[in-house]
Amino acid sequence: MILAGAGLYYVAHQDRTPGPQLPHDSTKKTLVVLGSGWGATSFLKKLDTTDYNVVVVSPRNYFLFTPLLPSVSTGTLSPKSIISSTRYITRHKARQVAVIEAEAKSIDTTKKTVTFSDSSDIKGAVSTTTIPYDYLIYAVGAETQTFGIPGVKEHACFMKELQDAEKMQDRFLDCVESAGFLGQSPEEISRLLHMVVVGGGPTGVELSGELHDFLEEDLKFWYPELASRMKITLVEALPSVLPTFSKALIDYTESTFKEAKIDILTKTMVKEVKEKSVVLQMPDKTIKEVPCGMVVWAAGNTLRALTKDLMAQLPSVQTNRRGLTVDGHLRVTGADGIFALGDCTATSYAPTAQVASQQGAYLAKFFNKLAKKENILIEKQLLETTEVPEDQKAEVTDKLGAISKQLGKLENPRPFHYSHQGSLAYIGSEKAIADLPFMNGTFATGGLATYYFWRSAYLSTLFSVRNRTLVATDWIKVKLFGR
Ligand code: FAD
Ligand code: NAI
Repeated sequence: MILAGAGLYYVAHQDRTPGPQLPHDSTKKTLVVLGSGWGATSFLKKLDTTDYNVVVVSPRNYFLFTPLLPSVSTGTLSPKSIISSTRYITRHKARQVAVIEAEAKSIDTTKKTVTFSDSSDIKGAVSTTTIPYDYLIYAVGAETQTFGIPGVKEHACFMKELQDAEKMQDRFLDCVESAGFLGQSPEEISRLLHMVVVGGGPTGVELSGELHDFLEEDLKFWYPELASRMKITLVEALPSVLPTFSKALIDYTESTFKEAKIDILTKTMVKEVKEKSVVLQMPDKTIKEVPCGMVVWAAGNTLRALTKDLMAQLPSVQTNRRGLTVDGHLRVTGADGIFALGDCTATSYAPTAQVASQQGAYLAKFFNKLAKKENILIEKQLLETTEVPEDQKAEVTDKLGAISKQLGKLENPRPFHYSHQGSLAYIGSEKAIADLPFMNGTFATGGLATYYFWRSAYLSTLFSVRNRTLVATDWIKVKLFGR
């Protein structure tokens, strides 16, 4: 125990006190990274910054581990446990990286510049600027799709950013406290305690499961008179929830929710969100207004305005409404020097963290090789143009031969190849589901053992020892003391 503690202290201390870094070098190419999510962070972690001046621009100065975000909305995890400072990552790089908390507002693909603004509440005298780039790594993700449905933006909670999870937690607890207010009518109590989750994709399912756990494990004891009146409804427009999971797991999730008394309304579409209700189009096309205390909107992704603007600059080649078209090396079609990855792109892969992080790692490797190639070309040019004494000519010829071989290896880099590691989701009641690649098919599993597998998989995927320690500690705290 003491040894493990000392080991952890040593690792943490080493991590917190990195050595000096190389300074900015005006002879190196400028690589601007937009975003600090899965794609950008995975890229930064693997990039060798020795040969680039890297500038990271993102409205949030941290990486958010989205798979565990629903757990923050119910207080299972504390917000800080699932974020890592971007500066912490860049501080460990060979050359200094500039991290700027700002939102990219426009990209000029002809001049190769990006303009960004400080969008936080507190601004200095300068809050907008434009910088040139040699390469732009475009990893701004996507935003939540609302389909322009009335009232969603005004009245619903979302589940995309850390603030969304915190807001949802506040709203949820507020509903419970207001339901307990003296003299509340039975109808009003039922309304306040009705939580509606919109979207039966993995986000909506995980959220419903987390809400159920909060109710069963904690609220039942704190509010015994109210807990039995709490209702969770999951609304999905398609015929089933989790359409991307295998049929057996869909059935398993639906039966687990039934046992947990989470109502699933499939083939039902939300048409409007009001302050105190949600308007549903039922499977028979009738319209029904259902009173509720909280609506959480998890209806999928849409492109950010910045991405739409970027595509509008390249109208003849960027025509896919799902996102940016990229080639096998993630180069944005029609834009010199821009590479895109993750949820902002339209590829054959699902918009997941797995894809974005593998793309980030691939691109870092691509740029590490590019730098190597450029350094070799400089060395080659130097050898070819320098006068060499007769007795050293054979040695130089050998060197040039070796260089040509090295260059040959660096030519034609391989295109990106995605390796699917499986799909996992937590469905509440200490049960998880997993579709895992097995032989040439899929192995579908669900239950308590899968839940422990889910926990260990995410614990090991977390980016730092700090996050792993905090998340594990939060889980123990909740088990011992509640939320
Ligand atoms: P993001 O990770 O969203 O990062 C985008 C970055 O760009 C952010 O840092 C953002 O602040 C920044 N940005 C935004 N606008 C600008 C701008 N104008 N200028 C500069 N920067 C900007 N996937 C899985 O594989 N497994 C899971 O279990 C899973 N769980 C999820 C749970 C939830 C609740 C959610 C919402 C998603 C989940 N996903 C999961 C999906 C996964 O999070 C996304 O696919 C992944 O985040 C995509 O990575 P990205 O880098 O493209 O975008
Ligand atoms: P999603 O796109 O997977 O699901 C959204 C659902 O909302 C759809 O099924 C859609 O039919 C439904 N919907 C849309 N509008 C509606 C309306 N008006 N009324 C009722 N239903 C409506 O979105 P989600 O869950 O946010 O996931 C986004 C991406 O992130 C996906 O690629 C997903 O795989 C990934 N993800 C993966 C997780 C995991 O693997 N555990 C967890 C969370 C997200």
